[in-house]
This record gives sequence, structure tokens and C-alpha cells, in this order.
Amino acid sequence: MGRIPRGARQRKAGGMSEGRSPVGSHSRGVDWLRAMPATAAKVLRRASTVRGYRAGELVFRPSHGPRHVYVLEDGLVRLFRLTPTGEEFTLDYVRPAELFGEMSVLSDRPREGFAQARVESKILQIPRAAFVATLRAYNGVLYSVARKIAGRAIDYQSRAEELVFLDARRRLARFLLRLAKSHGQRHGEGLRIGLSLTHAEIAAVIGTSRQTVSVHLGEFSTAGLITRRRGYLDLPSPARLEAID
Ligand code: CMP
Repeated sequence: MGRIPRGARQRKAGGMSEGRSPVGSHSRGVDWLRAMPATAAKVLRRASTVRGYRAGELVFRPSHGPRHVYVLEDGLVRLFRLTPTGEEFTLDYVRPAELFGEMSVLSDRPREGFAQARVESKILQIPRAAFVATLRAYNGVLYSVARKIAGRAIDYQSRAEELVFLDARRRLARFLLRLAKSHGQRHGEGLRIGLSLTHAEIAAVIGTSRQTVSVHLGEFSTAGLITRRRGYLDLPSPARLEAID
């Protein structure tokens, strides 16, 4: 535990797109605090502090006794783990209003993952005790956290299966489709992704090399399966991407 990942530095190489705000829509995530009873949200907010993070700064790292859970107020956060061979494996990108860092606190187990501000971000830090007390007091809040965790577990299971059964090209196609569904928006017949990730970052999500990602993105582009624009990636026909073999 506690190794500093290479990911604490910012990556520049192999951009899928550059500049621009990396998030297409801020409103798609579950607005965690707003979804709970107003009194509970007020109590939590009062017990919490807001902190600003620079792009590339770590929000948390593995620890035996995590003291906070977090809600992203503004910006973008990447959650990742280090594999036994020291590679970064990206778990997820957190959108504004989403809760993260809840799994270790809820399970009372050590935190094994890292969170890193991907761009300049504002994050609400909720003390562990206040979070747990609220869960105990409000079933509805507990339900929303359990739902989030169940969703993460199902996604992770699919990704583990993809790692075992699919080659990098098909993993990339699945990743783009997932990204379009979670962070994208409808664009004509297709989907538009407004999240700006480098090829190296995509590689860390699907468990392959940056070079492999570049080769397959180039191939998808030539086949008309994706269109790359500054700040955007379009999937003109998600069904075709889904059907690649
Ligand atoms: P915690 O275990 O405290 O620290 C790492 C965080 O990453 C974890 O809480 C969740 O918020 C998040 N996380 C863990 N596993 C996944 C996953 N499979 N998919 C998305 N997010 C995850």
C-alpha cells in the first residue's frame, strides 16, 4: 500500500483530443446530495469541507483507515488501482455530484484505490463518522449508496470478463460504447463523447498499451466507426461498433 503511482504525474502523449472542458454534460451523474432528504444533506454539508485540487493532484491513496468519503462538486476525478506489476488500472471517471471513496468506508476495509484530479477540481470531503451516521439514520440514503456500489460491481465484472475473453480491439470498442452511454450525449443518429482522454489513459482503462489504442482508433476512424474532432469523439453508428468481431 501507499506506493506513489506514475499517474500522479500528468500524461500528455497521444491525445484523442485536446483542450476544452473534458466533460460533455455535468448533469448526467446521480446528484447524490440532492437525492437525499434535505435535512440529511444539510447535516452532511455542515460536517464537511470543500477543497480545491490541481490537475494531477491525488485526492486519496491507499490507506488502512480512510477518514473521508467524497463528492465531486466540479471537475473530473479518475479512480484507479495499481496492478501487482505496478501498472495503473483505471476503475472509473467520476462526474460532478457523484459520490466516491465509499466502498472502503462502508465495508470497513482498507482503501486500496487511488483518486486523482484529472483537471482542476472542487471536492467535498465528508468525514467518515458523519457519513456512517447518516446511512444509519436514513434507509433511503443507504439504498442510494448500495445501488451505486452494486452498479460498480456489475460494471467491473463485465470488464473483468472482457479482459479475459476479448482482444484489445474489441475491448476498445466496448469501452467507447460504455463511455458514450455514461458521459456522452445523442448526436443525430449517433452518440457524441465530450470527455477528452489521451490514448495512454484509454490504455489504462482497457489494459493494453498506448500504441495498441492508437492503432485501433486509427482503424476505427478509417472504417467510419468513429469521427475524431477537437474536444469530441463521435460514434456515428454505435450498432456497427457493437457488432465488430
Ligand atoms: P474506496 O474503496 O474507498 O476507494 C476507491 C474507490 O474507487 C472506491 O471506494 C469506489 O468509490 C471506487 N471504485 C472501486 N471499485 C470500483 C469499480 N469497480 N468501478 C468504479 N469505481 C470503483
